[in-house]
Amino acid sequence: MILRNFCVFEGIDGSGTSTQISELKKAFSLHHNKLAGIDDQIPVLFTCEPTNGPVGVLIREALRGNVTVHPDTLARLFAADRCEHLWGREGIIAALEAGKAVISDRYLFSSLAYQGEAADRELTWELNKNYPLPEYLFYFDIDPEAAMDRVVSRGQTLEIFEKRNFQHQVHNRYREILDKFQHTEPGMTIIYIDSRESIQTIAEKIWSILAPLPIL
Ligand code: ADP
Ligand code: TYD
Repeated sequence: MILRNFCVFEGIDGSGTSTQISELKKAFSLHHNKLAGIDDQIPVLFTCEPTNGPVGVLIREALRGNVTVHPDTLARLFAADRCEHLWGREGIIAALEAGKAVISDRYLFSSLAYQGEAADRELTWELNKNYPLPEYLFYFDIDPEAAMDRVVSRGQTLEIFEKRNFQHQVHNRYREILDKFQHTEPGMTIIYIDSRESIQTIAEKIWSILAPLPIL
């Protein structure tokens, strides 16, 4: 099932999804002639995974290495966080039903790519196969070495998946997953972003596609 007006950004760490989410927030705020930063006055919910809910907070602790869980447990936590993200109060479904567009920094494709490598691939697919799909998937493509250079230069403590070899694996996995969805789910539009382009060039490309949202 495809959810209209639902859009997700995907890519390896350092590919620039967070940067473009914040560019898009500014564009929507200006477009709707509202003060930048007052998100609830625009007809768009900006959100992310892991979420800020209780399961998402636990996941963040695991990503920082403060809590150690089995990789398959982490796969289940990401899927549980996603369930709440979709159907919980003030979640994705509620926002779409209220006539908003929803733009999420990461969604189930992150699980298929990251947990597809770090955890049991079949389990990960089973956990995620029944979730609805977005109308638009923006994939931020970047050489993993360049992405890791960006992550390191961000200057924050590295998380468990922010390792060069692993990012190469996830990068390859993303390509396989997207190729598969391109064939099996033609109703989901996949847009490839060249992350080597400037922040402004990428922002303009994304805006040219998403500016009309929500289309009711
Ligand atoms: P992600 O959220 O995908 O992990 P970020 O948006 O945090 O990545 O970007 C990682 C780093 O790369 C940040 O320091 C950001 O300023 C920088 N960056 C993002 N997009 C670009 C770009 N198109 N060109 C150059 N640097 C970028
Ligand atoms: P993110 O918040 O995008 O990273 P950053 O803090 O650098 O902006 O994502 C956190 C990490 O979680 C990232 O390494 C990808 C990983 N992840 C998964 O492994 N599976 C998932 O299902 C999701 C949503 C994220």
